[in-house]
Amino acid sequence: MDGVRVAHTAELDQATLRAVRALLDAAFGGFADEDWEHCLGGMHALARVDGELVGHAALVQRRLLYGGRALRAGFVEGVGVRADHRRRGHAGAMMAALERIVRGAYELGALSASDAGAAVYAARGWLPWSGPTSALTPDGIRRTPDDDGTVHVLPVTVPLDRTAALTCDWRDGDVW
Ligand SMILES: CC(C)(COP(=O)(O)OP(=O)(O)OC[C@H]1O[C@@H](n2cnc3c(N)ncnc32)[C@H](O)[C@@H]1OP(=O)(O)O)[C@@H](O)C(=O)NCCC(=O)NCCS
Repeated sequence: MDGVRVAHTAELDQATLRAVRALLDAAFGGFADEDWEHCLGGMHALARVDGELVGHAALVQRRLLYGGRALRAGFVEGVGVRADHRRRGHAGAMMAALERIVRGAYELGALSASDAGAAVYAARGWLPWSGPTSALTPDGIRRTPDDDGTVHVLPVTVPLDRTAALTCDWRDGDVW
């Protein structure tokens, strides 16, 4: 592994952003425009082997409503590793880089996990949220039952009751 580069979206040139998008398309078997947009505007962790991009993870700021407060959350998006480079620690190394930012800048970390992703995050101490999830939509707070059980958090400065309600801010595409 060449190591993990951490950079803001603004520091990545167009060729790198295109390579990341192509990697995520392949890793997820299709990556919607909204999913890609959710990865932009914050920090990226990029894993390379012999100069070639093999992994990506993003961290963006969101607000999560919890217990009457709008918590400042570092939200992880677009974690993908090239199929022929999996189980070699790339996702773990990228998450370690982003977790340093979460611990230094946010009240908690949060993400919505696929089954494969959940194994990575659980192994790193992320905790599943078992309470009801919702989104703050233009029409008010609406439950997001399909996302119940997928959300994981990394507590930093705020004690969290993971059986309580958790509501994310609004965005196009998948809200969690
Ligand atoms: C999920 C994904 C990013 C993992 O990347 P990776 O580089 O293979 O992960 P790592 O090698 O860092 O794995 C770290 C640990 O997580 C766990 N883990 C990773 N992938 C796993 C899997 N498919 N099944 C079970 N456990 C897994 C293991 O504990 C692993 O440690 P080990 O290999 O020593 O047993 C990769 O499989 C992927 O891109 N999948 C498709 C896209 C996706 O689902 N992304 C996650 C979105 S939330």
